[in-house]
Amino acid sequence: MKAVEIKPGIYWVGAIDWTVRDFHGYITPKGTSYNNYLILDEKLTLVDSVKTEFIKTSLDRISSIVDPSKIENIVINHIEMDHGDVETLVRKAPNAALYMTKKAKEALDRHFDISDWNINIVKTGDELCIGKRTLVFLETPMLHWPDSMITYVKEDKLLISQDAFGQHYATSARFDDQVPQEELEDAVVDYYANILMPFGSIIKAKLNEVAKLGLEIDMIAPDHGVIWRKNPGKILKMYHDLATGAADCTAVIIYDTMWKSTQLMSRPIMEGLLEAGVPTKVVKLRATPMSVAIKEFWKSRGALIGTPTLNNIMFPSVAEFLTHLRGLRPKNRIVGAFGSFGWGGGAVKEAYSELKRMNLEIFEPGMEIKYRPNAEDMQTLFDYGKRFGEALKDYHAGFSV
Ligand code: FEO
Repeated sequence: MKAVEIKPGIYWVGAIDWTVRDFHGYITPKGTSYNNYLILDEKLTLVDSVKTEFIKTSLDRISSIVDPSKIENIVINHIEMDHGDVETLVRKAPNAALYMTKKAKEALDRHFDISDWNINIVKTGDELCIGKRTLVFLETPMLHWPDSMITYVKEDKLLISQDAFGQHYATSARFDDQVPQEELEDAVVDYYANILMPFGSIIKAKLNEVAKLGLEIDMIAPDHGVIWRKNPGKILKMYHDLATGAADCTAVIIYDTMWKSTQLMSRPIMEGLLEAGVPTKVVKLRATPMSVAIKEFWKSRGALIGTPTLNNIMFPSVAEFLTHLRGLRPKNRIVGAFGSFGWGGGAVKEAYSELKRMNLEIFEPGMEIKYRPNAEDMQTLFDYGKRFGEALKDYHAGFSV
């Protein structure tokens, strides 16, 4: 296991997790990486740790450069357990001083016996001289945990950004310019939609704060995925747009189906949307990982949710999707619902009441069809899709981003 030099004297010493497909319920079809960084200076400094099952890999990479017991500073930007094996690091480097936020210390105290750890609390603007370099800390509470902060290496213009700007993307490449750009952008949106969507206003404020500090940034090194060395401005712009709720003037139909009636309904609806000039994707929930459905929702300005009625309520996979979505606090999207029923109905009404709990533009009424759509219904559904498409375009026109 070798360390990878990302700047003169600064090394990636992380691990690639090729096989993880379920990341605390978030499906990760491309795996992920856990990145941490070693800075060779007068005081040997490590920024961040990795998941316990990969700590040996990280220590092996460190050992390819220096003896880990020589580490004098350990900076902890974030303590979620995918970066959480601090205990092994402290055991290897017992004299190291640790730097973290107050909230990080509180959280670590709930995970480990930290009574004899040399912990130093830092806050925004604090600096740590490690020799020729100075580290500057910037707290980023709720981006995305209360403990979170980022570390700026002044002389190298390097921002070590913990989860922010990351991607769940396992690759042997370490840098943004070594991977297909479309695949990378998709991984960024996937990560943002599933992890950071609720924190858009905090992200916007932090991006402004960084801009006001006038930090020159020529590399951004996140704790997951590839490092932004070619074009860090690209990821900053992407985050600005994502945090502002920007979306394409497109639609997505997200549905599930029992006996294919709701699926049958989705097809003329899609044709109606296309007739209105709105490119549309169709996502069947049980055939699609939840995280992909969430990402597709976030990419489009509008969504129609299709659900059959099962025992007078929503189909379970649709209910699960809407529960995930509500937790992510989406905004700036227009939504409606449709579905089939056999005798009592109720799912579409329930879908609307769930959608109305979110901060979304509601397109009403929805469409319900008994058993199976007939030829007349197919025309009605086409018209419904077209009307939704027209409403979506009007709604989209109201956004300047
Ligand atoms: Fe990658 Fe929030 O941990």
